[in-house]
Amino acid sequence: MKFFVDTADTAEIRDLSETGLLDGVTTNPSLVKKSGRDFFEVIREIAALVPGPVSAETVATDHETMLAEGRKLAKLADNIAVKVPLTVDGLKTCKALTAEGVMVNVTLCFSATQALLAAKAGATFVSPFVGRLDDISSDGMELIADIKTIFGHYDFTTEILVASVRHPVHVLEAARIGADVATVPPQILRKLFQHPLTDRGLEAFLRDWRETGQSIL
Ligand code: G3P
Repeated sequence: MKFFVDTADTAEIRDLSETGLLDGVTTNPSLVKKSGRDFFEVIREIAALVPGPVSAETVATDHETMLAEGRKLAKLADNIAVKVPLTVDGLKTCKALTAEGVMVNVTLCFSATQALLAAKAGATFVSPFVGRLDDISSDGMELIADIKTIFGHYDFTTEILVASVRHPVHVLEAARIGADVATVPPQILRKLFQHPLTDRGLEAFLRDWRETGQSIL
């Protein structure tokens, strides 16, 4: 499974990319606002930091304008994935940009039928928002499982990009289901590395090693 980080905070992206385990970045208008930075400047910086797909979202709602925005965003860097909403106009734009060789991430997906339409539109990624479904007592991970089952019957190339991740168990369940990508907020991504027994075990190993009085270097 690929790990994307869900942020427009370049300091966080730089730090996490140094692990060598970061496969891409997703942003959205809310994350760009949170960064407090110029949109084009921060997207260019992120795309230079991480070689994998960097999602930059359109903000128009009509196909013609969304297409113009998408073409402009795609020119910012070779690894830009243009984000469009899962609407009729968004899927029209997805189809047109895909035909031009542009990566497209169809976002704000909340049903398996929406995901099916995104795949038919040739999306590179479809982003079901699991956390926002959980927030309204719907089962976000059940949607991921449904989409995985449906996609398995056809030769779609669209990758399932699990988004709106709220905690490590979302990542665990996404991996169990076989989702292609999880885009994870930085603070949650860091939690994936951590376990108290690892900390405790390492402490004991190093204490015992110190008592040998030896060194490796
Ligand atoms: O990439 C989509 C993600 O940022 C949405 O997350 O927490 O606003 O539902 P959230």
